[in-house]
Amino acid sequence: MEYFTTTSKASRRAADCIVIGLYDRGKLGEAAQDIDAASKGELTRRFKSGDISGQPGSAAVLAGLAGVRAKRIVVVGLGKTGKLDLPGFRKAVAAATNAVSKTKASQILNYLSLEPVKDASAYYVGRATAEAIGDSLYRFTAMKSGRKPPVMPLKKIGVAVNTRGDARKAQLGAEHGDAINKGVSVAKDLGNLPANVCTPSYLARTAQKLAKGNGKLTTRALNETEMKKLGMGSLLSVTAGTAEPAKLIIMQYKGGGSDAPVVLVGKGVTFDSGGISLKPGPAMDEMKFDMCGAAGVIGTMATVAALKLPINLNVLVPAVENLPGSKATKPGDIVKSMSGQTIEILNTDAEGRLILCDAITYARRYKPAAVIDVATLTGACVIALGKHHSGVMSYTDDLADEIVAAGVSAGDRGWQLPLGEDYAAQLKSNFADFANIGGRDGGAITAGCFLGKFAEGLDWAHIDIAGSAWHSGAKKGATGRPVPMLSELLLNRAGALP
Ligand code: BES
Ligand code: MN
Ligand code: ZN
Repeated sequence: MEYFTTTSKASRRAADCIVIGLYDRGKLGEAAQDIDAASKGELTRRFKSGDISGQPGSAAVLAGLAGVRAKRIVVVGLGKTGKLDLPGFRKAVAAATNAVSKTKASQILNYLSLEPVKDASAYYVGRATAEAIGDSLYRFTAMKSGRKPPVMPLKKIGVAVNTRGDARKAQLGAEHGDAINKGVSVAKDLGNLPANVCTPSYLARTAQKLAKGNGKLTTRALNETEMKKLGMGSLLSVTAGTAEPAKLIIMQYKGGGSDAPVVLVGKGVTFDSGGISLKPGPAMDEMKFDMCGAAGVIGTMATVAALKLPINLNVLVPAVENLPGSKATKPGDIVKSMSGQTIEILNTDAEGRLILCDAITYARRYKPAAVIDVATLTGACVIALGKHHSGVMSYTDDLADEIVAAGVSAGDRGWQLPLGEDYAAQLKSNFADFANIGGRDGGAITAGCFLGKFAEGLDWAHIDIAGSAWHSGAKKGATGRPVPMLSELLLNRAGALP
């Protein structure tokens, strides 16, 4: 995608498609006033006739407006004046994009960037423009046969600005947004692929492909024999019931000299049937999304590599399929993790933590600056936070704060949940060092406490994306989260934000 900025007036631009805004009660936004004047009051008339509205989410395409040089004007609703914030801005750009997505427009020029957007600099307005358009135009058609429905042939995205200084910042924001779109779309594709295609080996091949032709990025994958040698008895217990080989995918990006790396660990359960503790049938298909943590960290690596950030980043993906079978792990089985700690598996459906704990132990060899694991870990997190915030847990408040702040800036929000000895005590086992479940109460938190037992002495945080990683229902599909949140955190650590 190509990006540009402009300081020229909306009515004078010969663009394929210009996006302008209208507030409640027909109050015209910056560029809308200019278009209204140039078209001799056409917008005012159309508002009175009810053809355009200030309702948030509304969007109307007006083609061939007299007095205006652009081919199409998209009028989107911005709601109450003085209330527009970055999430509202993103929604408005998305609504505009959806409205023109069936046309042949090859260019979208956004003039909503001239509106006052609360707490947002030109950089974030440029970035949000690129991200919202990229997100709205994403389609997953890889598994459909025959002709694919047409999507607009978009080639250029423009952002209107007031000053040369803003132009520079908005351009940088749009280019960063483009790199984030690449990572998000990698994550969405992996999430959306069915489990009979997206196996642990497929994840490994995808990671390997990302490294091709990038001198700073190397990828390899450990097989089960190698994991056995390392003592990863916990991880391997999850793969015992399936014929599909497990992998530990290792991606290393070196852009930061001798700096300690950040390590991202992503849960890669390519299908979670629950194992012997079999899940109920309804919506079990959605457990193909149980590798969205893996998709999120691989996607973030794609973004970091595209941006050539001056940091060191390692990505670890323990990838397995969790199925029942004659060799499968049974409730009551006790396994030894790579850390030496023993675990009584009381429920084979609490498998994510069993693969993550060995990957976290493996991460110690890098003497990491921070370890952040990302996982569709618990249904309890969805009950606690719904699908809007990811759950953020850490014994290091500074790291949790950094993640939450990154989520706010990136429009990919997280909310901190507590960890502590009182919760961890729920994991007590009569037979092993501890159990893999802690009962119904605070289920997202006890899962976090379980992982915390393997992160002692590390600057570690856990992000539960069970709610945020995919949409259910009519819009069923992966969201690409938390690629924007993690990318923001790494952009910030790299000193790449203006
Ligand atoms: N992958 C699931 C978590 C999940 C469930 C994510 C529903 C999104 C929607 C995880 O492996 C799991 O099964 N967790 C169990 C843990 C329980 C057995 C302690 C859960 O949440 O029910
Ligand atoms: Mn499970
Ligand atoms: Zn799972």
